[in-house]
Amino acid sequence: MLSLLKPNQIHLIPSFVRREGRITPAQKKALEQLWPIYGLSLGAGYLDLTAIFSRQIPLILEIGFGNGESIAQQAYTTPEVNFLGIEVYRPGVGQLLAQLKAKELKNVRLINEDALKVLQYHLPDQSLDGAQIFFPDPWPKKRHHKRRLIQLPFIDLLWHKIKPNGWIHLATDWQDYAIQMMEALSQYKGFYNIAGQGQFIQNLGQRPITKFEHRGQRLGNLVWDLKFKRID
Ligand SMILES: C[S@@+](CC[C@H](N)C(=O)[O-])C[C@H]1O[C@@H](n2cnc3c(N)ncnc32)[C@H](O)[C@@H]1O
Repeated sequence: MLSLLKPNQIHLIPSFVRREGRITPAQKKALEQLWPIYGLSLGAGYLDLTAIFSRQIPLILEIGFGNGESIAQQAYTTPEVNFLGIEVYRPGVGQLLAQLKAKELKNVRLINEDALKVLQYHLPDQSLDGAQIFFPDPWPKKRHHKRRLIQLPFIDLLWHKIKPNGWIHLATDWQDYAIQMMEALSQYKGFYNIAGQGQFIQNLGQRPITKFEHRGQRLGNLVWDLKFKRID
């Protein structure tokens, strides 16, 4: 495992380009009316998760939830789990807010910020039972690979935020990114592969199909899922 770095010693390259995108009237309305209920604004220090979530039950983080299909469905089917979603894309946040209201979910909170910043400065260590990142931006051009989220410094950061025995679940439909993820995670000594060394898992209903994945499926793309657990 990497050495324990102080947050301001970690240099992480931004994994996204900020784009406002077209926001529909329904998303705009959801942002205006529902953000005060489900949204978290970041203060100076660490989030007080005990105060934020009324029930002390397992907490799962999803980074880059897009339109939020996975969180909305998982939070609905597993009310005994809390979900924290981080996404920079505001239309997607609006989309998920509307779903949360429609499903009357009480076990979800959202942050509309860069996940790297949230993890480095606002999320306490060992606060997560699991973290999921489904179809992170693939940055296909070689010169952009440095922007890919799943790299060793990020894995090290995530390790600190996950509780002992907690897990991370990643999925991608870019083969070279899947291989890069597998190599980085296998090299990092703080996690082990639950499927066995070098093995991907089958998504047998463990996670909902996301919007990005649906698009890939229409193009005939394959999907690689990785699930690792923290060791201490
Ligand atoms: C390819 S999309 C996949 C979205 C969704 N998970 C899905 O499968 O449909 C990747 C998402 O990650 C978000 N993202 C990328 N880097 C991020 C970061 N550092 N913090 C928060 N969100 C990020 C992007 O805005 C985008 O919505």
